[in-house]
Amino acid sequence: MRRLQLSPSILTADFGRLAEEIASVDEFVDWYHLDVMDGHYVDNLTFGPSTVEAIAKVTQRPLHVHLMITDPVKYAPAFATAGAARISFHPEVTADSEAAVEAIAETGVGVGLAIHPDVPVSVAEPHLDQIGVVLMMTVRPGFGGQSFLDEAAPKISEAVALLQKRGRSADIDVEVDGGVNLSTLDRAVGAGADIIVAGSAVFDGVDAPAAAQRLRQRLDAIGKG
Ligand code: DX5
Ligand code: ZN
Repeated sequence: MRRLQLSPSILTADFGRLAEEIASVDEFVDWYHLDVMDGHYVDNLTFGPSTVEAIAKVTQRPLHVHLMITDPVKYAPAFATAGAARISFHPEVTADSEAAVEAIAETGVGVGLAIHPDVPVSVAEPHLDQIGVVLMMTVRPGFGGQSFLDEAAPKISEAVALLQKRGRSADIDVEVDGGVNLSTLDRAVGAGADIIVAGSAVFDGVDAPAAAQRLRQRLDAIGKG
């Protein structure tokens, strides 16, 4: 049986009641996915280490910080100190992705490579001995609530095949990020996702715990085969 994991992105949560939003879904989730945007790599701004630190205080679940910023090396230590368990970055932002991987690893957290829909999976190849997760984007980074890009789905299978070929599939999670909801989840899992990010499908402004529970049940059902 495959244990499929759920990682809500808090991007569309009500930030005025973030602690309550998190408490309401906590029993159904495995991780929280925290989208950090700097207004340079993407055309949007979100939050920094102080928000991550506040979230770490209200949940025992591990936190995956998804850096959509141009200088991951500079800011990774602050996010590690704030309580991140994993930090992912986009390798195309840096001329030396090896140095970025090492800088993040040195902070003591797990390292992830985030793969933009326009970036080939092969960027992960040189780093397979150091990373713990490949974050496969199925939307263009920048905003929550976008539609799942079907054309990005084959890259999920490509990532799975690469990890298998290199004997790393037991050690590296495949996480799928963007546009995942009850209608698209089967495509992501069918392509090989281990961890599903769901932002607007959980924090939908209607009933987050019910939405999280539905996704959890669907993942458990698929996992049982
Ligand atoms: C997009 C972010 C995603 C996004 C997920 O730039 O990396 O994590 O917030 O939100 P939904 O699930 O609404 O696409
Ligand atoms: Zn994300």
